[in-house]
Amino acid sequence: MRKLETVAALRTHLQPLSRAGKRIGFVPTMGALHEGHRSLMRAARKECEIVVASIFVNPTQFGPGEDFEKYPRPLEKDLAACREEGVDVVFVPEVGEIYPPGAVTRVSVARLTEGLCGRHRPGHFDGVTTVVAKLFNIVQPDKAYFGQKDAQQAAVIRQMVRDLIWPIQIVVCPTVREGDGLAMSSRNAYLSPEQRRQALCLSKALHWAQGQIETGRGDVQKITAAMREQIEAAGPCEIDYIEVVDAETLEPKTSAVGRCLVALAVRIGPARLIDNVLVDAGGAGR
Ligand code: PAF
Repeated sequence: MRKLETVAALRTHLQPLSRAGKRIGFVPTMGALHEGHRSLMRAARKECEIVVASIFVNPTQFGPGEDFEKYPRPLEKDLAACREEGVDVVFVPEVGEIYPPGAVTRVSVARLTEGLCGRHRPGHFDGVTTVVAKLFNIVQPDKAYFGQKDAQQAAVIRQMVRDLIWPIQIVVCPTVREGDGLAMSSRNAYLSPEQRRQALCLSKALHWAQGQIETGRGDVQKITAAMREQIEAAGPCEIDYIEVVDAETLEPKTSAVGRCLVALAVRIGPARLIDNVLVDAGGAGR
């Protein structure tokens, strides 16, 4: 496995491979790797000849007062995880390599970024699309891998790739959960044992909602109100949102019909946790 730190070194390494027709699979990450990231690397390993991962805690996607400074950076452990998953190249740039002095260009996707996390983290998705656009230009992958847990991020990136007419296939892999249902996240590390137990209420509420929708009880107002009650009953928390939206457009729904995304963001202690389930509620006849 090669660890490369500069754009020039990465390009020099990848260009001949790409010219030789090798398919490049790319897994962008911010490190603090867990099973969710590893599942993306495994998917890339299966489908591509060359697997590139990046580890870069991107400052532009954190708002003022968010956790940029304290975001975990266990680099040696992350490199070992990449090695174990058969990653060929890990790109670990410094901030100045991605944002050279004087850089002022931002990539921004409209509409899809307005709701859900976009409403609560202004500028977050501009930071994500800007860094992912830069990384795509540097790596020039054939396929790029993202997790369903960050459903809005995946939808936004898919839209960006479509709009900018890049020949990159976006692959979205299922959310990986702990044995008890908690969605894996680098931010779970911020939770105390008590908060970790409390956080289980999120996946429980989502799966309850899924059951409701699948059995034809699709009144979104009732579903989200009941989820709110369940989550608040589990302990002290701050709910950013609980919503049922169209799985493709992310537009809010009043009735859970068709392909729905039930999504939430909840702050428990120091951690802002997001999770979602995709539910196919069948045709418009319901
Ligand atoms: O999902 C993440 O870890 C980040 O948002 C990403 C895609 C690596 C961009 O910094």
